[in-house]
Amino acid sequence: MTLLIRVVKQVQRKSFQCHLLYRFSSDNAALRKGHECKWLCGSSQEILSAVREQVDVRQNFISEEEENALFKEVEPGLRKKRYEFDHWDHAIHGYKETERLQWGVECESILRRVRAVAFPEGSPLLGPIHVLDLDKEGYIKPHIDSVKFCGSTIAGLSLLSDSIMRLVPENNSADWVDLLLSRRSLYILRDDARFKFTHEILKDEDSFFSGQKVPRHRRISVICRNLPV
Ligand code: OGA
Ligand code: MN
Repeated sequence: MTLLIRVVKQVQRKSFQCHLLYRFSSDNAALRKGHECKWLCGSSQEILSAVREQVDVRQNFISEEEENALFKEVEPGLRKKRYEFDHWDHAIHGYKETERLQWGVECESILRRVRAVAFPEGSPLLGPIHVLDLDKEGYIKPHIDSVKFCGSTIAGLSLLSDSIMRLVPENNSADWVDLLLSRRSLYILRDDARFKFTHEILKDEDSFFSGQKVPRHRRISVICRNLPV
């Protein structure tokens, strides 16, 4: 997986202030049911409409017990590693990572659920699951995952902490979309949201959603990807 991290395309960008906030507010059916878009905001309705079909966050996708089972399975491997802070050229700051092919029964059944909701049936998947552990001081800079190694969809479970994932169109860095990735949620990014937008995980000091502070603690993500076709 180091390979994936190394070949991401990084984008250097000035940090910017969020003056204008728009919550997604179309009258689509899901919104009328009142169970979503608590997790999506952005710089304009247009940009929200552009990504709306390609991003999803399922809050409380896993239970506390399931979070615990995943944590127990990845922690022994992670404990042996040190957080890496000093590679200025890396897309990720303050992290350690591992990948895992074989999982215990409970975790395997969680991952089966992830695959079932995130990927089209029969879509070839990257075998190993990527586990990324961000220190409280850690963050992920804007980047696009390698199109050579990763397919159209990425699905990630967030353990231990809430966080903000920001998407910015590659061709217009004035626009942005923020996803509130609550602890134990599953996020899915597809197609243009994967290829035409950079994604990043904000550092604690910048971690606000719709003007509200979202404290960033240590965060572990468990990420499934498909293969390029
Ligand atoms: C990555 C990445 C997001 C996450 O590893 O390329 O963007 O949820 N991770 O950790
Ligand atoms: Mn990425």
